Amino acid sequence: MNYFRWLVKWIIEPVFNVGFHLLWYYSPYTWQFNTFLGYKVKQLPFDLHLYQELIFRLKPNFILQTGVADGGSIMYFASILDLMKMPSDVLVVGVDIQLSDNSKKIDNPRVRLFEGDSTDDNLVAEIRKILPSGGGMVILDSDHSKQHVLKEMHIYKNFVASDSYMIVEDTNVNGHPVKPFFGPGPYEAVKDFMKGNTAFLQDDNLWRRNKISFHQRGWLRKIN
Ligand SMILES: C[S@@+](CC[C@H](N)C(=O)[O-])C[C@H]1O[C@@H](n2cnc3c(N)ncnc32)[C@H](O)[C@@H]1O
Repeated sequence: MNYFRWLVKWIIEPVFNVGFHLLWYYSPYTWQFNTFLGYKVKQLPFDLHLYQELIFRLKPNFILQTGVADGGSIMYFASILDLMKMPSDVLVVGVDIQLSDNSKKIDNPRVRLFEGDSTDDNLVAEIRKILPSGGGMVILDSDHSKQHVLKEMHIYKNFVASDSYMIVEDTNVNGHPVKPFFGPGPYEAVKDFMKGNTAFLQDDNLWRRNKISFHQRGWLRKIN
């Protein structure tokens, strides 16, 4: 590798990458203001694009997301399944400790919303009842403390179909590179979860081609 290519790969690109991540995360009127069909969607558009690609490729039996907020992601997932003309029993399930008024207005027959703590045993059993046994795609975006995320990961890993994904969102907090004083969060939960884990691998090729993801190292593919 010549000197210029080395400089780009190891110095210039990482610096610009972190710079853009910080700029986009902290600028007013960026991700906090994005909407999908009128519902706020707190996501990086690059990540939404990857979701679309995964959903089209995997044709999941269901999509389950913890952390609904305004419901923009739920609407997005349901709309993609609609566009793909997936059967109406392919559900999009959301769980939030307090469902917002707006999310309750979502009017799509494949959407099911549950209210409560995503790690509550009784609630998890209720969710389990309406889902097919083969598993689907799981997205974790609720309480971002390491303890909660790790608990969710151990519960919801059993809901993921083979070859499908469990996406742990917002691994960028606690200095990766945003919110350096957040404390241990999703990034640290993923790191612990992956120790000695043989069922999932971190599919970094998926997001790295876009250079940036709010969920870097959090796109986990179930391999057995
Ligand atoms: C980052 S927001 C979710 C954003 C949403 N997924 C989106 O893409 O727009 C986090 C949500 O998690 C919910 N939440 C926090 N703690 C929770 C818990 N223990 N169980 C379930 N939901 C929780 C909050 O009420 C909040 O609506």
